[in-house]
Amino acid sequence: MAVDTQADWQDGEVVEAAPAADGIQRIVLRPERPRPAAPGAHVDVAVEIDGRTDTRSYSVVRGSEDGGLLTISVQLAADSRGGSRFMHTLRPGDGLRMTQPLQNFPLRIGAPRYVLVAGGIGITAIAAMADVLRRLKADYVLVYVGRGRDRMAYLEELVERHGDRIRVHVDDEGTPLDASALVDGVAGAGPAELYMCGPIRLMDAVRRRWHDRGLPAADLRYETFGNSGWYDPEEFEVEIPRLGVRTVVGGGRSMLEALEQAGAEVISDCRKGECGLCQVRVLDVQGLIDHRDVFFSDEEKRTSPKMCACVSRAVCAPRPDGAPGPSGVEGRRALLTIDIP
Ligand code: FES
Repeated sequence: MAVDTQADWQDGEVVEAAPAADGIQRIVLRPERPRPAAPGAHVDVAVEIDGRTDTRSYSVVRGSEDGGLLTISVQLAADSRGGSRFMHTLRPGDGLRMTQPLQNFPLRIGAPRYVLVAGGIGITAIAAMADVLRRLKADYVLVYVGRGRDRMAYLEELVERHGDRIRVHVDDEGTPLDASALVDGVAGAGPAELYMCGPIRLMDAVRRRWHDRGLPAADLRYETFGNSGWYDPEEFEVEIPRLGVRTVVGGGRSMLEALEQAGAEVISDCRKGECGLCQVRVLDVQGLIDHRDVFFSDEEKRTSPKMCACVSRAVCAPRPDGAPGPSGVEGRRALLTIDIP
């Protein structure tokens, strides 16, 4: 199937809306111009936030053969910038603007073995891949990681469908995933491709071990939603001295949105930390930068004065996992001084 990356915006209708797990809404959409959804595809949806229209991307969990019905699932984010809140208000019969299925996380058919890793809501990008591999009778294992079973969407039906090919890790039950052991297992069993989608901490642990084991970079593929970081999102200030702009970025919105609202024109495209178009130059930071993009390399994140305004943030609080946070700024609000191209 051709890779579809050009958005064809069209009307869509909500056909079903019901909970899929705690805080996760399953929404079935009927697009005006159906196109089949390949595994890994997503749709962009126009969401209304405080009278403004913005775009959010949601993976297609399942699609009818002709693409006439597309199922997505939306987690109500504690730090929602408004998009997931809007999506949770949708009811059957509601209309919305949406694209056809778009693809930037394709499943390559023909690998000798597959390991699929889904963390939390990341299952939405992985479930359709597992279904296809099962139909193809491919050699695959699906690893599904979550904090608690009540927050793991589609868990029961996935267990039923994939039987002994699914491995479930639940933090609340004391069975968290050991990412290093997982990668070691993959490395020891011969060539395989690993596809993953989940929180940045999980994906980073897998990526690091993959790199340390010298496994082929091309065999590790992942999708990010650009909305999870090393630190909890907190309110911070950003200023652009050259333009006389200074504004507060609340915990529930992005720096890009705050800058736009303050009148600064920042170029952007994907708004999920992938394209790098929204990068700004950091002149000074009181606090630390929580890089949440997948555009810059680890090395660039450590040494370059650039950051992606659409997803990355500044913080003062310690890291939730106990690792050392910024020093000398505890209890204060981080202040970022930047310039834009
Ligand atoms: S707009 Fe693409 S990385 Fe920010």
